[in-house]
This record gives sequence, C-alpha cells and structure tokens, in this order.
Amino acid sequence: MTITNPAEYWDPLWASGRRYRGVGPEERQLTSRFLGAGRGRPALDIGCGDGVLARYLHGDLGYRTTAIDCASAALEIAQAEQDTSDGPHFQRLDVETEDIRTLPEAGYAAVTCRLVFAFIKDKAAFLARIRYLLPPGGTFWVVTPLAERLPDERKSIGISPQHAELLTASWSSVHSEDLDTLRCYALRP
Ligand SMILES: C[S@@+](CC[C@H](N)C(=O)[O-])C[C@H]1O[C@@H](n2cnc3c(N)ncnc32)[C@H](O)[C@@H]1O
Repeated sequence: MTITNPAEYWDPLWASGRRYRGVGPEERQLTSRFLGAGRGRPALDIGCGDGVLARYLHGDLGYRTTAIDCASAALEIAQAEQDTSDGPHFQRLDVETEDIRTLPEAGYAAVTCRLVFAFIKDKAAFLARIRYLLPPGGTFWVVTPLAERLPDERKSIGISPQHAELLTASWSSVHSEDLDTLRCYALRP
C-alpha cells in the first residue's frame, strides 16, 4: 500500500478510534525468545501506534524503550495509556522523511517494527536507516502480515514475497516464525 503522507493518513484513523491487533501470549513469547531480556539496554519501536509493543518491551522485557510514530493522535493515546512514570519514551518522528539523529540514542540493541513494514514507501532506504541504528549483536524484529495469507481486500496491509526477499537480504542471521497470517522476523547484522 502506498501512502503519500503517513501522518495525514494515520492521524484520523487513530483519532476515530481505529485500533490494531493486540500482542497476544504467543507473540509475546516469540518476541521474548528472539529479543531476550533487555537489562536496561536501549530499544526502538518504529511506528509504535498506541504503544502496545513498546510497553511490553519496556515493562516486561526490561528494555529502555523509545517509541516513535509519525501520527500525533497515536502518541496521545500511547501517553494516556501509560499508567506509570517509568514507561517508554514516546517521540513523534516520521522514520522515512525526518532526521533519525534526533533520537535519544545513536544505536539500539533491539529495533522493532510491528504491522508497519508493508506501509513503508521506500523499503530499501528504510532498511538502510535501520542498519545505521543497529550495532553488531543487535536485532531487528519485524512482525508483518503476509499478503498471500490475506483475503484480496486486505492484501495491501501485507508484504509480497519480493518485499520479504528485500527485507531478509544481507543480514548475517535471519530467523522467522509464523503466527497465523503474520510472519515474525529476527534479523541480525
Ligand atoms: C497498523 S499501525 C501499527 C501500530 C503498532 N505498531 C501496533 O502494532 O499496533 C501502523 C503504524 O505505523 C505508523 N507509521 C506508518 N508510517 C510511518 C512512518 N513513516 N514513520 C513513523 N510511523 C509510521 C502509523 O502512524 C501507525 O501508527
């Protein structure tokens, strides 16, 4: 799916009450298995939405989590759902067009991207940005629907086999696990 201006597209959806799939027990278990304990190391959740994954990374796995989204409406919801002062740090940022050097850390032990990759316009440029943020030993965790597993009217929220190939090219290690219509990737530089 190509979205010309992501903030203009996503803001009204969040503001109108639209929500996305929760992180269920199986997905939590996979995330924990592939990312491991955070022990205070930095994590970055890209396209965090209402913060469902960021809160898990921060509160359950123990990563010092920064969560970014281009949609202010999503971040308002994320902040409102945070019930303690020790939660993720939320920041408005369009990861494709804005300066990632404004992020609090230069590198992250874990970079996550859940239900977002299909909507990234220039996937090759996005992946180059991820490499810049991920030191050796880090993990890029991507959760995405596969277009081939979705009905015709929803295929645009999933990735094609070509996009899967692009996503998984040139990492030193690639692991994937299937979760019904989703595929979860752990990619290491
Ligand atoms: C389907 S929602 C998923 C939200 C969340 N990751 C989850 O798992 O519920 C996609 C999110 O990606 C964000 N997004 C899309 N393109 C983006 C971009 N270029 N920069 C930052 N966020 C982006 C949208 O604003 C939206 O909140």
